[in-house]
Amino acid sequence: GENILSVNQLDREAIELIFDVAKRMEPYAKKHKRTQVLEGAVLANLFFEPSTRTRVSFGTAFNLLGGLVRETTGMQSSALAKGESLYDTARVISAYADAVAMRHPDAGSVAEFATGSDVPVLNGGDGPNEHPTQALLDLLTIDRELNRFDRSVDGMHIALVGDLKYGRTVHSLSKLLCHYKNIKFSMVAPDGLQMPDYVLDAVSNAGHQIELVSQMEGNLAADIVYQTRIQEERFPSQEEANKYRGGFRISQAIYDAHCKPESVLMHPLPRDSRSDANELDNDLNSNDNLAIFRQVQNGVLIRMALFALTLGVENKVQQYETNVPW
Ligand code: CP
Repeated sequence: GENILSVNQLDREAIELIFDVAKRMEPYAKKHKRTQVLEGAVLANLFFEPSTRTRVSFGTAFNLLGGLVRETTGMQSSALAKGESLYDTARVISAYADAVAMRHPDAGSVAEFATGSDVPVLNGGDGPNEHPTQALLDLLTIDRELNRFDRSVDGMHIALVGDLKYGRTVHSLSKLLCHYKNIKFSMVAPDGLQMPDYVLDAVSNAGHQIELVSQMEGNLAADIVYQTRIQEERFPSQEEANKYRGGFRISQAIYDAHCKPESVLMHPLPRDSRSDANELDNDLNSNDNLAIFRQVQNGVLIRMALFALTLGVENKVQQYETNVPW
């Protein structure tokens, strides 16, 4: 089967196919119908780093298609600690499973694992490198949210805000947006945490407009305002990370002062809820344009679509459909 390792492997046609299949998954995700198209299939959910959404939604997506999930958190106690290679681990795991979802702290590790796997491997985040399924769910969310205001991804203004250096979700999302047209990017990051050059080059080569700025004031009047957590675990020291604490908070007062009335607020989550760190304030929770929990719902649809497509069952889902018995 095909792997999903990087957004680099996706063109606009592939993105639109994934979205088309994702939208067809909605009745099953909302439990209006059931499908057993993956009955008997096993997902190995391999997480070598903390995760709530990605791990649980990969597992839930597989379950909603009728498959079984083997959870393997606590991989630090696996034989990798005895020096086993990712290649050998993949040879073993793919003998037990029909698909693998994996997160690992090292860039390139999921691709290395995939060299030893003969079943589809889906990247759930490899260090600071990529988070392709997050980027797809973010893009689907952007498309759906903008449709509410008769706008589209082509021609939009997006402000990416916060830790753009270490935030893998904004790297993957920016690269995906290279397949669209005429986008204005405001890259709003404190000094030292600006977007890496390779991403800026890709965005610029796609013909998009980029503004690099180091303060939020005057730079948040965008269609989409996408905030990222300061990725403290990737900093060389805690002292270095503390320098940025609390500096880039968006509260309802900041929203009222600097965003447009229809600016949609997004965040990949988790948001750090400590009072001096929260980048997207809890006082936004009742703001109708806060899309963070709609992002999460779209994540299940995207992951269902990717399992269906990589396992080649995307056109058989309805054949195995029943009405819900409750
Ligand atoms: N957005 C995201 O990747 O969240 P988790 O770390 O909880 O999986």
